[in-house]
Amino acid sequence: MNITERLRYLRHHVTMVWPRYRLSTGDFRTGLGPSAWLLHGLVRSLRPDVVVEIGSARGWSACHIGLALRENVHGRLYAIDPHGDTAWNDSGGADASLPALRRHLRAMGLEGYVEIIRADSQAAARGWNRRIDLIFIDGDHSYAGVKADWDLFSPFLTATGVAVFHDTTWELHRDDPRYRADMGVPRFVDDLRRQGFPVITLDRDCGLSLVQAPAGGRPLLP
Ligand SMILES: C[S@@+](CC[C@H](N)C(=O)[O-])C[C@H]1O[C@@H](n2cnc3c(N)ncnc32)[C@H](O)[C@@H]1O
Repeated sequence: MNITERLRYLRHHVTMVWPRYRLSTGDFRTGLGPSAWLLHGLVRSLRPDVVVEIGSARGWSACHIGLALRENVHGRLYAIDPHGDTAWNDSGGADASLPALRRHLRAMGLEGYVEIIRADSQAAARGWNRRIDLIFIDGDHSYAGVKADWDLFSPFLTATGVAVFHDTTWELHRDDPRYRADMGVPRFVDDLRRQGFPVITLDRDCGLSLVQAPAGGRPLLP
């Protein structure tokens, strides 16, 4: 390696390491924990054009997805959240989530890969016309809310598109002090499973489930 190549190599690694450092030092206040790396890995592997997130809060998941898009040098995340009071805000105050999200995206150099849509999912779905490669659903966790998100956006999933739901294993951990009886995501994802949708559930960080449409799976061979 000559000196120019060495410097280019060094610069490449510094630009990769810095956002990860900012990720580890940011104030995100999220329940998703290290499972956000699953989203990062999916984005690196799928190399999506379009990713949608419902429920961004302070940006823990958005930054993992955005970082992977930046590493792909390709694609865009549409990060949907009203950033106001809902029944499903994490701690830290609803008013603070938008400035925190913007601060985190800026600190990690992800603004070019993440478009913030300040709206609830119903409003954001109006006029939506893009095919979706990956959707992360982590917004309104009531049964009606999560079902509405699936009904609104799953028709846009590509043939091999993936939907990821967070908070899908609460019913296995009813003794957890954070348990909420109005959490409808586990029951909704179980309904999808019963309807024949392919579902893979990971019992970590309150549960993540990966779902592919349509029910019964889609034969990929002609
Ligand atoms: C649990 S937090 C999301 C956490 C985030 N994904 C993370 O990794 O830190 C839920 C978020 O969903 C948002 N939300 C609630 N109802 C929503 C809706 N109908 N559409 C979009 N976002 C919604 C709330 O404002 C809140 O910020």
